Formats: sequence, C-alpha cells, structure tokens
Amino acid sequence: MTIHIGAQPGDIAQTVLLPGDPYRAKWAASTFLDDARLVNDVRGMLGYTGTWKGNPVTIQGSGMGMPSLSIYVNELIRDYDAKTLIRIGSCGAMQNSVKVRDVIIAMTASTISTPSRGIFRELQFAPCADWSLLSAAAKAAEAKGTRTHVGGIYSSDTFYDERPDLNEEMTRHGILGVEMEAAELYTLAARYGRRALAVLTVSDHLLTGDALPSDQRETSFGDMVEIALQSAFE
Ligand code: HPA
Repeated sequence: MTIHIGAQPGDIAQTVLLPGDPYRAKWAASTFLDDARLVNDVRGMLGYTGTWKGNPVTIQGSGMGMPSLSIYVNELIRDYDAKTLIRIGSCGAMQNSVKVRDVIIAMTASTISTPSRGIFRELQFAPCADWSLLSAAAKAAEAKGTRTHVGGIYSSDTFYDERPDLNEEMTRHGILGVEMEAAELYTLAARYGRRALAVLTVSDHLLTGDALPSDQRETSFGDMVEIALQSAFE
C-alpha cells in the first residue's frame, strides 16, 4: 500500500493503462480484461487488475493534470515496480488535418511546466515516448484501420486557458493535440528507465469547435484501449 494506492504488493501488473477518469478505468477493465478485480479505490481513483489475452494488466485512474498523474505514476513505479505505463485519454485537436474521433499517438509532449520542472532549471527537457511502444501502437492502429496521427502533442496545465497565444504557437509548430498529462508521464518514465506512451482519442477540436457526441464516446475510446493493449504485448 502507498499513500494514494491501496493495492497489496503483487496486486499491480507490470503493464498499467492510465485513463484520467476513474470511471473509464472501470469501463475499460470490464470491457477488455478477463477476471478484472478492483485493486484500488482510495479517493475514488479506481484501479483494476485482470488479464488481456492471458497477460496481466492494471488499469488505474490517474486523475486530471500532471500533478495528479505524477503522484500515481511515482507510486506505481517506485512501490509497485510498474514497467510499461500507457496513458489512454482524450485530447483536443490543434490541426485541421486531425478530426474528432481520430487517434493520436504522442511521439513527444511539449509543455511549459511539469511537476519535474524544478529538476531541469534552465534545461528544456524533451519528453518523448518509448520507441518500441510507439512503433507497435502505430502498427496496431494501421491494422485496425483507425484514423491515426503520430506526432507531437502539447501537455497544458490548464483546460480553461487564459493564454490562447500558447495554443496558437503549438498549432503553428505542427502540434497535433492538447491534453494535460503526457509530458510528466514521459519524464518520469525516462527518469526511472520505464516504457511509456500516450494513446489519445480526439474528443474536441480547438479550431472547428467540433466535439464527440456522448453516444459515440465508448466505441471511439475502445479503439484507443485496444491499440494501447496491443502495443504493450507485441
Ligand atoms: N484542453 C486540454 N485538455 C483536453 C482538451 C483540451 O481542449 N480536450 C481534452 N483534453
């Protein structure tokens, strides 16, 4: 047990999927895992462990934003020895070529700050995905026929943004989408020598105002979960 995770040692698999929303952890575990059982409900941040094609998998909510994700990922790595950590979440599209429902596989995550910012001081660390996961996810997405983009994303600290110029610069520099967690996940994975990836579904579009209708959310998010699972065990 840790401060924020009530699971016993051995209850957490080496492969962990990390949705921001704890209820999405519950949905993904009941939809995609066999023999899923609840292993954490501290603060309602649900975590489930089961198997996928015989492989042990934990699906643990991370909460919204990098400070929250950082707590769970630090404890998953340092106390439970998680080896492969894949964020599954939603993002806002920042390019016209990217549409709502598309999947984005994040090669890099630009940011103005992560909870790790203090370590780097004047350095601009470039958080990037694990290549083996990234290439396996791209292949899995292609095999499924899912509309998928591989490239840079922006991990913002704000959802309600008072600095629209930051989003505009990201769009101008080819960034595909915005979310709020991946940069810290990639930074922690680099620090501890673990594999990390973010596979995201576009839920809204910053340039067009389009948004995923609620009745289509589950089927769209399902592709992302399957791509994440396939990449972990290729
Ligand atoms: N901004 C930040 N995070 C997000 C967004 C957004 O527009 N959409 C989904 N996650």
